[in-house]
Amino acid sequence: MRERRIALLGATGSIGRQALEVVAANPELSVCALASGSQPLDELAAEYGVEHVQVGGDVTDLLEAAQPELVLNAVVGFAGVGATLWTLERGITLALANKESLVAAGDLALAAWRRGGGLLLPVDSEHSAVHQCLDGHAPQTLDSIVLTASGGPFRNRSAESLESVTVEQALAHPTWSMGPKITVDSATLANKGLELIEAHYLFGLEYDRIEVVVHPTSVVHAIVRFRDGAALAHLGHPDMRVPISFALTYPERRTTAVPTLDLSTGLTLEFEPPDTERFPLLLLAREAGERGGTYPCAFNAANEVAVAAFLDGRIRFTEIAASVEDALDDVDGAAVGDLDALVEADANARRITLERLATAA
Ligand SMILES: NC(=O)c1ccc[n+]([C@@H]2O[C@H](COP(=O)([O-])OP(=O)(O)OC[C@H]3O[C@@H](n4cnc5c(N)ncnc54)[C@H](OP(=O)(O)O)[C@@H]3O)[C@@H](O)[C@H]2O)c1
Repeated sequence: MRERRIALLGATGSIGRQALEVVAANPELSVCALASGSQPLDELAAEYGVEHVQVGGDVTDLLEAAQPELVLNAVVGFAGVGATLWTLERGITLALANKESLVAAGDLALAAWRRGGGLLLPVDSEHSAVHQCLDGHAPQTLDSIVLTASGGPFRNRSAESLESVTVEQALAHPTWSMGPKITVDSATLANKGLELIEAHYLFGLEYDRIEVVVHPTSVVHAIVRFRDGAALAHLGHPDMRVPISFALTYPERRTTAVPTLDLSTGLTLEFEPPDTERFPLLLLAREAGERGGTYPCAFNAANEVAVAAFLDGRIRFTEIAASVEDALDDVDGAAVGDLDALVEADANARRITLERLATAA
């Protein structure tokens, strides 16, 4: 593999830190740009010899200056939209962890991807798994895909007891170690809802061909079913360094610090359907995706606002879904125009959600 200059956006986060580990393990990878939201980057920049650094603000200026060969977008939330569009438009390889940008700006991203003609490599473990299972198979042979969900820390909780769960309990994910927003999203199943919409855009599949199942140990990351009755599954320890390394070193598959599965100790694989009554955000996401237009953008915006309020201790866990449902009832979901219109749809859904939270308080 020849040298690859990477812009690492969201460098101080969970994905960002693990990406730096992968870079350190592969001499051909180098970091030419670092971005964070508010944490300083001086130490990381010195350690990795990075010239282009930006804290907060519009990262596209940073990308213009650094001219990377690969962008790893590991920013959290809608703040990652600009970088996703910038990268796809220029045909630069995009390693995408920031699922929110594809959910909110899916139509614009697909158009930019078509124009740019570059590679879009999913970093989300389930989507990386689907991508790998699909490799080498003609699209017409595909039947459907299955995304697995751990079910989160509240999988076995009653609906009533969900009213009183704490932030600390929501942040105790059973299988993955991740940033706070996605960890709460995993507990509400909003994360799987975002991933459903992400998969729709990444793999060009209608929603009725994307299934979600709960698989508590997170060993199977995704399953791809083909029209001849065969199904391919992707298995491994739940460790993000694997999909990060796959994306950063693609098409090579480099050694990582993650061990392969040891089957000699036995392996039981359990699957069950998700409970969308206790975890309605999965269903709300599916509906928002099917309605299209700016509904997915509104779903994401309302969810971001509600999760931030929950993390701040301002609302209860169950109010996250209620806030998103109300916001989706109030927005018009108009067709996606340009980026400015999308930014407005995002801001509108945030305002509606904040107003609802203020009146409910
Ligand atoms: N963690 C995982 O295992 C995992 C798995 C699959 C997908 N993902 C996705 O990957 C993304 C990152 O997740 P994470 O768990 O790594 O989140 P995280 O630990 O909360 O880190 C988020 C990163 O984004 C940066 N950031 C926030 N706002 C920004 C802005 N306006 N401009 C530039 N950078 C900004 C943060 O900087 P500061 O530190 O300065 O705030 C931080 O570096 C999310 O979209 C998530 O859904 C994560």
